[in-house]
Amino acid sequence: MEAKDIISKLNTALKSEVEAILVYTNTHAVCECPHLKLLAIETSFDEMRHAKILSELISDLDGKPALTSPDTRLIYDDDEEQLDHIEDLEEEAVKLYEELIAEIDDEEIVSELKKILADEKAHLKDIDELEEEWAEDDGDDDEEDDDKEEED
Ligand SMILES: [Fe+2]
Ligand SMILES: [Fe+2]
Repeated sequence: MEAKDIISKLNTALKSEVEAILVYTNTHAVCECPHLKLLAIETSFDEMRHAKILSELISDLDGKPALTSPDTRLIYDDDEEQLDHIEDLEEEAVKLYEELIAEIDDEEIVSELKKILADEKAHLKDIDELEEEWAEDDGDDDEEDDDKEEED
């Protein structure tokens, strides 16, 4: 694969990282659940590190990192919608890095991409855990409602 093709593929990944940074930072600022707030800020630092690694790989190939501002959704009705959005982004990221790892034939670059892929999978796991926590909280609320009904 020619360097210009690798640069173009790494720039696609870089754009998705910039979008993730924006969405996570926004989520941290506007969401209500303190656990989602913490997840969002911590994950945003990982995405920033990914953007840095990709930018360096691109510039090592004499390419220009495409740090453009993405057109993405930043308005939500509630925390659930925000979590759904970041889950979609993470699923897309896992798919994208798996494709890049299969396509790019440069060992050093692939080894960096594999580390990033492992992080994205960990992000999805964190999201799953938070979803489970919310589902359990909902269960508790339902029990409280039942108790109230019994009292009445
Ligand atoms: Fe990332
Ligand atoms: Fe991620």
